[in-house]
Amino acid sequence: MRHFLDIHNIDAGDLRGILDQAKAMKDARAGRPRGAEDDARALAGRMVALLFEKPSTRTRVSFDVGTRQLGGRTLILSGSEIHLGHGETIADTARVLSRYVDLVMIRTFEEESLLELARHATVPVINGLTNRTHPCQVMADMMTFEEHRGPIAGKKVVWVGDGNNVCASFLHAAGQFGFEMVVTGPEDLHPEAEFVELARARGASVDLHSDPVKAVTGADLVVADTWVSMHDSPAIKESRRQQLEPYQVNAELMARAKPNALFMHCLPAHRGEEATDEVMDGPHSVIFDEAENRLHVQKALMRWCLDV
Ligand code: CP
Ligand code: NVA
Repeated sequence: MRHFLDIHNIDAGDLRGILDQAKAMKDARAGRPRGAEDDARALAGRMVALLFEKPSTRTRVSFDVGTRQLGGRTLILSGSEIHLGHGETIADTARVLSRYVDLVMIRTFEEESLLELARHATVPVINGLTNRTHPCQVMADMMTFEEHRGPIAGKKVVWVGDGNNVCASFLHAAGQFGFEMVVTGPEDLHPEAEFVELARARGASVDLHSDPVKAVTGADLVVADTWVSMHDSPAIKESRRQQLEPYQVNAELMARAKPNALFMHCLPAHRGEEATDEVMDGPHSVIFDEAENRLHVQKALMRWCLDV
């Protein structure tokens, strides 16, 4: 039994295997209806619980559809419907769910809730986003980059804006996949030092810049995300806007990147804020490939967790 909690603590060979299997499964289903099951019904007879304490479109739909394509079944639960950390300890919820289902995916606020669930579950637990990391998204992004441009090792990846949970998982990935990471944003929104130090300790070059133009120059991949995340107070919206406006990814900033650079955004986006329509819908953008690849990569992640 294996949990998928974060990218940095999984064997790099296993991560590569997950991407390879995701690509093979994607290719094998080309042209088939979305509802058709894969030939290898790897999750036949399995029940997967999908727990959401925050809203979700991609994570919810891709895990649900992915499980069904693998022949398994899903149970989707919102935090308010169950006693998750209120009315019952997370440890007890973990023990109980483990008697009913074969795998749990959770999207939650505090990282500690995810870790506590994993410590006490006797079935695999997958991190579907916490305030600190979003590893499923970045695995899909690794797959997406490599589909378009080949190996990401040695490439320059530039994160623009708030050094948030998705940025942290990119830093985890930099150490595992061997790419250079530049983060540009106001200093007080730079990622936590722990993520930066870990990536460096794994041999990745990490640079933190407050000048977006310098940062993006020569990039192979430019990544943006919302200025205010789901765990942030809505009250900071205006101050974030003022702080991050100079970091909007628009055509002018994107022109500093390499001519064949890609643009990514995990979505949902606030078009016209962190990135303009011109970039989101422009020739560099692979945002909907990222969304699609959530499906394929998470199917491979669930198979890895259950060793099926
Ligand atoms: N990118 C992502 O995780 O999207 P959702 O919030 O819609 O799941
Ligand atoms: N940083 C965003 C990602 C959403 C998928 C958030 O946490 O809200």
